[in-house]
Amino acid sequence: MSNDFPTETPAVVTCGLPYANGDLHVGHLRTYVGGDAFARALETLGQETAYVSGSDMHGTPVAVNAEQEGVEPEDFALEWHDQYEETFPKFNVEFDNYGHTHDETNTELTQEIVRTLDEEGYVYEKEIQVAYDPDADQYLPDRYVEGTCPYCGEKARGDECDEGCQRHLEPGEVEDPRSTITGNDAEYRERAHKFFAVSEFADYLTEFLDGLEGTSNARNQPRQWIEDGLQDWCITRDMDWGIDYPGEGGEDLVLYVWVDAPIEYIASTKQYTERVGRDEYDWEQVWKDEGEIVHIIGRDIIQHHTIFWPAMLEGAGYNAPRAVAATGFITINGKGLSTSRNRAIWAKEYLEEGFHPDLLRYYLTTTGGLQQDVDFSWDAFQEKVNGELVGTVGNFWYRSLLFAYRNYEGTPDTDVSEDVQERIEGAIGQTREAVNDYDLRELGRAATQLAQFGNEYIQRNEPWKLTDDEPERAAQVIRDCVQIAKAVGVLLEPIAPDKAQALWEQLGEDGAVADAHLEDALEAPPRNFDEPGELFEKIEDDRVDELNEKLAERVAAASDDEDDGADAETESDDTAADEAGSMADTDDLEPLADERIEFEDFQDVDIRVGRIESAEGIEGADDLARLEVDIGFETRQVVAGIKQLHDLEELPGEKCILLANMAKAELFGVESNGMILAAGEEADLLTTHGDAEVGEKVR
Ligand code: MF3
Ligand code: ZN
Repeated sequence: MSNDFPTETPAVVTCGLPYANGDLHVGHLRTYVGGDAFARALETLGQETAYVSGSDMHGTPVAVNAEQEGVEPEDFALEWHDQYEETFPKFNVEFDNYGHTHDETNTELTQEIVRTLDEEGYVYEKEIQVAYDPDADQYLPDRYVEGTCPYCGEKARGDECDEGCQRHLEPGEVEDPRSTITGNDAEYRERAHKFFAVSEFADYLTEFLDGLEGTSNARNQPRQWIEDGLQDWCITRDMDWGIDYPGEGGEDLVLYVWVDAPIEYIASTKQYTERVGRDEYDWEQVWKDEGEIVHIIGRDIIQHHTIFWPAMLEGAGYNAPRAVAATGFITINGKGLSTSRNRAIWAKEYLEEGFHPDLLRYYLTTTGGLQQDVDFSWDAFQEKVNGELVGTVGNFWYRSLLFAYRNYEGTPDTDVSEDVQERIEGAIGQTREAVNDYDLRELGRAATQLAQFGNEYIQRNEPWKLTDDEPERAAQVIRDCVQIAKAVGVLLEPIAPDKAQALWEQLGEDGAVADAHLEDALEAPPRNFDEPGELFEKIEDDRVDELNEKLAERVAAASDDEDDGADAETESDDTAADEAGSMADTDDLEPLADERIEFEDFQDVDIRVGRIESAEGIEGADDLARLEVDIGFETRQVVAGIKQLHDLEELPGEKCILLANMAKAELFGVESNGMILAAGEEADLLTTHGDAEVGEKVR
């Protein structure tokens, strides 16, 4: 493709703004680390890139929490903002600009954009039903009201079905509304609000989605929403805290937080230009003329980024995003991250434990990339670190550099062999492709697999046996290894920037590896360097035991609190993946069956371990996918209702569990010969975690 990265035009990579309302945890970090790694990777390709974000200061997520603390929303939000600004760099998340939505740049730009939308005829006023609490004598926007989602029947907040279908809800939509201030049933009252005519953009958005890059979940869900029919979007709220509605007839209204929040992407880029100068980076070129806009977000806010936001951009005369990458969910030890249950790994805590940020960065990017779910456990963390960073990368770096230093005082004075040159070029190509596929796991693999190759290369050639009898061959092998070591450093920099820099310095290189481009992986390191040290340290078992215990104690203590009725309501609201996937409340679960069955009955059910060979959507069926599943004896075609819930491209190769003696059925003209087992709202596919082989029976 001619439009591959690196492009002639500059890029901006943004990350969804964190609400300035609580501590950062690993659920946040996976998005910001992902964005940071992606932005760094673009730069290694030679792509001109700005990486921006900011704190989301407005709306009820901030107002409600500030109220609970008894402080003004502005003071409350600014305090968190300062903390975020300090914390991100500690994880090597280096924004080119990190602003916030309450600053002047964003306030002005937001009002300007809303005025333009108004002038262009996209804004109108309408009387609507708004939830109202007569006791508190106030309107109940968004998180001030809770009830039932009209689409899926789950418990929902006033503006989002956060525990169910993830849809954005318009004022008045939530059923059985209850005030979160008093707990009373809310009334609906009529009130005039401003609307943005999103429905007029249906055709535009359909075309926009067809060309949108990023992760497939960010394209599939919105297509469905458009098909279901787009509603116009209420852009004002009855609140004091926020940006004033700039037009006529909205004097006592503020803008809905979701209007000014994404505009901070532009405002933050603008501030970057103001700091470095237009020659260095031109925000207007990217946002208005020609540029590559890449949004990295949590998957709970896909609708805002693929429907409302591009419609606003189009309506106000700005460029359309090139890509939206939506990160998957995060779990801790297989259970949903929950801030109120204290089942989380907190940013502060991780640092206090003394772990290097690059270890977590590596873990998050290579397990979850941008799109996949991440399960964090200290055991898995230890395994990744000890296996891949210590065992493969660190081991290779240290042994090659040490050998080179001892025998040649640095890089042997000869050219890299052709084979090794080609192998490195292969890894560079793999990296380039990974970036263009928005695939951070592959980005990590390109580096680690090259290190693995290096280990095998040194092992196979045994240079230590050659130094006496075949000095030239020994020098050649080590020359090759030093080059591979350097290349691994360049390739790993987006993910583990500090560690890559340390290697860079060990190699005697000047400057910053962050400024290196992929081609530099092929340039010879300086002739001389000093004695190297080891860059990664093994995590011991007792350390992991200790961490597991601490976590278990914390979670237990939090649930004791909850039993005391202390803070069942204070589930705080974080971005992205926070509560998503958390353990279902038993109230919400289907009751256990009373009737018992005999073991023989169970044996009648033939359940097998399978492996998905292919997965594709079924034309005309919104939810159905056709899968081919290898179950050892044969390959079965099955139809499963997972089209919207999974990224079908990612499924081939995954193990699954198949009910093999299910009666055959035909759906949309496709025969289904078996049933894939899954659980939960999101059709979490069952699988095996050990060595059970394809075809084996579940018993
Ligand atoms: N603060 C929002 C959240 O945490 C995200 C805002 S992203 C932006 O869900 F697009 F509005 F910037
Ligand atoms: Zn819902």
